[in-house]
Amino acid sequence: MGTLLITNIGTLIGLHGANVRLLKGEEMQQLLSLNNAWILCKDAKIEAYGSMTDFPTRLPNDVQVLSADQGYVFPSWCDSHSHIVFAASREEEFVMKIKGKSYEDIAAAGGGILNSALKMQSATEEDLYEAAAMRLTDMIAQGTGALEIKSGYGLTLETELKMLRVIRRLKESFPIPIKASFLAAHTYPAAYKNNHEGYLEQIIDEMLPAVANEGLADYMDAFCEKGFFSPDETDRLLTAAAKYNLKPKIHANQLSISGGVQVGVKHEALSVDHLEALDQDAVDCLANSNTIATLLPSCSFYLNIPYANARGLIKANVPVAIATDHNPGSTPSGNMNFVVSLACIKLKMLPEEAINAATINGAAAMELSEQVGSITPGKRANFFITRPMPGLAYLPYSFGQSQIKTIILNGKVW
Ligand code: NIG
Ligand code: FE
Repeated sequence: MGTLLITNIGTLIGLHGANVRLLKGEEMQQLLSLNNAWILCKDAKIEAYGSMTDFPTRLPNDVQVLSADQGYVFPSWCDSHSHIVFAASREEEFVMKIKGKSYEDIAAAGGGILNSALKMQSATEEDLYEAAAMRLTDMIAQGTGALEIKSGYGLTLETELKMLRVIRRLKESFPIPIKASFLAAHTYPAAYKNNHEGYLEQIIDEMLPAVANEGLADYMDAFCEKGFFSPDETDRLLTAAAKYNLKPKIHANQLSISGGVQVGVKHEALSVDHLEALDQDAVDCLANSNTIATLLPSCSFYLNIPYANARGLIKANVPVAIATDHNPGSTPSGNMNFVVSLACIKLKMLPEEAINAATINGAAAMELSEQVGSITPGKRANFFITRPMPGLAYLPYSFGQSQIKTIILNGKVW
């Protein structure tokens, strides 16, 4: 598989021990690093790292040596929430928003998720794959080295399966770990607007068995929100998914105090995501659980909705992850560097906290902590090299610009 040695690293970041799955509370400020370092990758994994003053004397013959020229090395971003399989962009809604319409107004008028679902019906698997592969390639170029992708623009058995098969193809053809979440409960299809029972039965009796039968999903998702799926409806869906061992990772408290956090925690959700509308009851509920709070600040930025209370969650010792939510309606961006900047600027997270939220905690929100999320011997060699920077905080400080110079995936230059 080959051996790659990176030398002259200004600072090597994210040196968590192999036993660290995620960080919470004050631990989130701990981001161990090493100045003037080297790192050795072998057989796609991180083999070792050390200080340039203590350089390895015996190296394999076939070793490829690359100088980081004093740049930083960061573990790749772990983006644990995205919807990158979609048929068409929705910039017409972008203009409607500029003119004053809200996300809810547009959705109620048949736009939003239903707009994407309509376009999804006629898209071919091939076209969907090509478009998603292009988005994923852009995200990798921006430092992402692990990703979760959701279905949820199908809303019929066949079309949900089509989306999930596209995700399976992405898993097979890209060199990063990818997890799939089944999100048929994204919105009620127009025909079921007044027949929630009918659609719930379709998801529970037809879609879930088919998805499980093909092994197409790792997680169960639902949009628990006023006007979408109620906590009781979400409860039924999560109960049904548990029979197929699909753990929940759900959309909760995006537009209102929806009860989504409580229903997610009740079902031991791996993560509850969004949380732009969060009361103390929901914070307390999370504090007494093993559920990760995944915050999506570029969604708040784009929709002009409140930012999540990251400080309150960290203070309550809840593990916080951050992710892009890349989708055509509420966050048409897959740039984790921007998410890390927003986490600092708008969520008031320290650079160390934001970087941990975007790496080790993001990995945990995909159950990938053993593989990615830190610079740890034995993990996949997925990381990126930046230009030289005056300090760690320079990365989120220089928002909207990329400091990334080289991407390494599985120990190879990408
Ligand atoms: O996470 N809130 C639900 N789902 C997406 C938006 C989907 C869409 O508008 O297409 C989100 O924001
Ligand atoms: Fe989302």
